[in-house]
Order: sequence, then structure tokens, then C-alpha cells
Amino acid sequence: MVERGPAAKSGNGAERLRQRYPTIDDLRSKARRRVPRFGFDFVDGGATEEYCIDRNIDAFQAIELLPRYCVEGKANTEVELFGRKYAAPIGVAPMGSAGLMWPGAEKLFAAEAQRQNIPYVLATPGNASIEEIAAIAPDVFWFQLYRFPYNDHAITFDLVRRAEEAGAHVLVPTVDSAGKSKRPRDIRNGCRVPFPINPWTTYQVLTSPAWTMQLLRNGMPITANLVPYAAKANQNSTAEVMQLRSGGSHTWDELKRLREKWKRPFVLKGILHPEDAERAVAMGVDGIWVSNHGGRHFDGAPASVDVLPAIVSAVGSRVPVMIDSGIRGGLDVVRALALGAKFCFTGRCFAYGLGALGPAGAPHVVDLFLDEIKTEMLHVGARTVEEAGNIRVRHPGAWHFGNY
Ligand SMILES: Cc1cc2nc3c(=O)[nH]c(=O)nc-3n(C[C@H](O)[C@H](O)[C@H](O)COP(=O)(O)O)c2cc1C
Repeated sequence: MVERGPAAKSGNGAERLRQRYPTIDDLRSKARRRVPRFGFDFVDGGATEEYCIDRNIDAFQAIELLPRYCVEGKANTEVELFGRKYAAPIGVAPMGSAGLMWPGAEKLFAAEAQRQNIPYVLATPGNASIEEIAAIAPDVFWFQLYRFPYNDHAITFDLVRRAEEAGAHVLVPTVDSAGKSKRPRDIRNGCRVPFPINPWTTYQVLTSPAWTMQLLRNGMPITANLVPYAAKANQNSTAEVMQLRSGGSHTWDELKRLREKWKRPFVLKGILHPEDAERAVAMGVDGIWVSNHGGRHFDGAPASVDVLPAIVSAVGSRVPVMIDSGIRGGLDVVRALALGAKFCFTGRCFAYGLGALGPAGAPHVVDLFLDEIKTEMLHVGARTVEEAGNIRVRHPGAWHFGNY
């Protein structure tokens, strides 16, 4: 059952949250205090020295927009993508094991995305299954796909079959997970499967009562999509399938096979090089998702927004370009639109909301984004998402490539 917080229903509750938590950073601070350290760090942390996380955020902050004034009219945030009109150019990025931040996270995200008409992308290693999410969010459900080379990709193709049968609108193979990611915070916290039960982890759980109650209600999180391929329907068995059977970046040949199989919109996530974008478009993808996985895999990666203009230039108007990694509010969305992105996603903003406020978290994060996108559009003189694409931008960190 999907819970709904009082703030999701009542206008007064929403107003109270706007006053208490006016920014994503307020939600992050609150989540840090409310969630066991291993859960908060799993979501908040990144690869190696975590420079890429800061690089993503700093790169957005360095982008200046030149306002046009004397414009009449209201801002309309609606945007059409793959034949469907969404409420705003912001969606929930796929997050595996988001239940560590708040047990039951996926179902809460999906329910709110459906209610607000924004995309929700279920991750392959999410803690809810394709079939469960399709039932909760039939109109806005996208599915993210990892690679399972074992047995000639039998699991990969079965996941694709299930996503198709369940009615997922968009398939999103992720290509930026080429190797294992080293996340020092997780190593220090012992955040792994099987989960270590020791005095330190027990202390964290006992001192996070709201989180613990939520865990008791939802049960131990499992990698739900992998139950059919696991020896047992439990955390260890499903995680073992993920560890032993998956890995690596989908190759171009494999992507071609997937493209031929999947007849609905097909978006490649994790593109950072314009030549990869070019090749993907030539292969027949329907969209490019520029991302460095929020700095969780490769600490040396450029900020995704810094390679966005070159990728937009390479792709032209052939397919829409989307972006995530470092978006922390409506202004960043408008910055990305001004640089040619058609749509934006964020993972951590939604996760922080849940960790801070439980069921009221996702509604509040959507509320913040909708309000801020409208406000910032008015500030730059854009009444529509298309007009936001014409704003003049100064982007000191942009990468330049010879051809683009
Ligand atoms: C806890 C967590 C788990 C993630 N798991 C996945 C995943 O399973 N598949 C995937 O494609 N991306 C995954 N991502 C990356 C997100 O989809 C997205 O690219 C990233 O969160 C964007 O950066 P932001 O958090 O700064 O908004 C994950 C991100 C987080 C924070």
C-alpha cells in the first residue's frame, strides 16, 4: 500500500513545508539527522574522493543567464516528450536501493510522479518490481536497464520483455557503469550485502526511530526485479544475482539488439562524449541522457552540464537531449533548458526529501521544483519551456570539441 503524508493532501501542510524547508539543502540536512548514517551516506556519497559530486553542483552554479524584461504573461512549465505532455521538465532519476534512504521509496516516488504527471524511472536494482511500479504509475513509468551478460543476456532480455508487458513507456539502458564503483563512505560504513549487524549499525538503526518503523512496515529491502532469477526471494539471493550476473557497459552491438527488440522510445543514459551521442543517434535511439551518474562511478568525469552544449550541438534537432547530475533546484533546470536540454532529472533531491519527511517528501520536492521553475522562467523572461531555450547563457566551464 502506498502511504500518503498529510502534507500531500493539505494546502496548509504544503505551505508549512515551504516555510520550514525552502531548499533541497534543508531537506538534505534534515535527512542526515533522521536516517541511519549508512543509509544517508549510500545516497549522498560518490566515487573515490567525491570531487565529481561537487564539480556537478559548482558547474551549474557558475552558469549565468541573461534576463529579458518587459515580457507579459505567466510561465507555463508543461513540456511534450515522446508524445506525452508532462507537467514540467523534471523527473525522478533511477536509483537502486533507494530504500536505504527510506524503506518503500520506489512506491512513494512512483505514486507522486503519477499524481503530478512527471516521469518516474525505476532502476533495475530498485526495491520494487517492474510490475508493482507499472500498477502504481501506469502513465509515467520508464524503466532503466543494466547489463547482465550471463547466458547471452537472458536476464537482460527477460527484463525488457517484462517492462514491455507491464507497459513501461521508455526503456533507458545505462552505459556509464563500465567498472565497479569504489565508494569509500560505503566501505567505511560496512554498507554491503549481507548487511553486517554489529554494535555500530545497530546503534544507527536504534537512533533513527522513524526510519526503523518504516523498515518494519516494509520489510527488508530486496532487489525486487531479480527475484525470478534468484535462488530465494530474499536480500542476499537477489543481491547475489546483481553481483555475479550483471556488470559492464552495454556494447554497441548489444544496444543494437536491444533497440531492435524494444519498439517504444529508447533513451541512452550516461552519455558524456559528443561522438558517443552521434553514434547513438545513428543507431536509432530516441533520446540522449547526459549524465555522470551523479558522480557515483567515475570521480574524474566532467560535470555533465559542461559537456551538454557540445552534445546538443552534435545531436541537433534529431532527438531530445536530457540531463542529470547536480541539479538542485528550478534555477538549474532553467540553466539546462537554456543550454539546449529538453528535460532534466534528479535522483538525490527526491531521496533527500524522503529521508527528511517520509511520505510528505516527494510531494514537497515536486512542489519546490514546480514553483522554482516557474519563478526562474519569469525572471529570465521565458513564458514557455521552448522560450527558455533561447535565453543567452555564459558558461565558463563548457567543454569545446573541434567539431561541435
Ligand atoms: C542512491 C542512488 C542510486 C542510483 N542507482 C542508479 C541505478 O541503479 N541506475 C542508474 O542508471 N542510475 C542510478 N543512479 C544515478 C541516478 O540515476 C542519477 O544519474 C543521479 O542521481 C543524478 O545525480 P543527482 O543525484 O546529483 O541528481 C543512482 C543515484 C543514486 C543517488
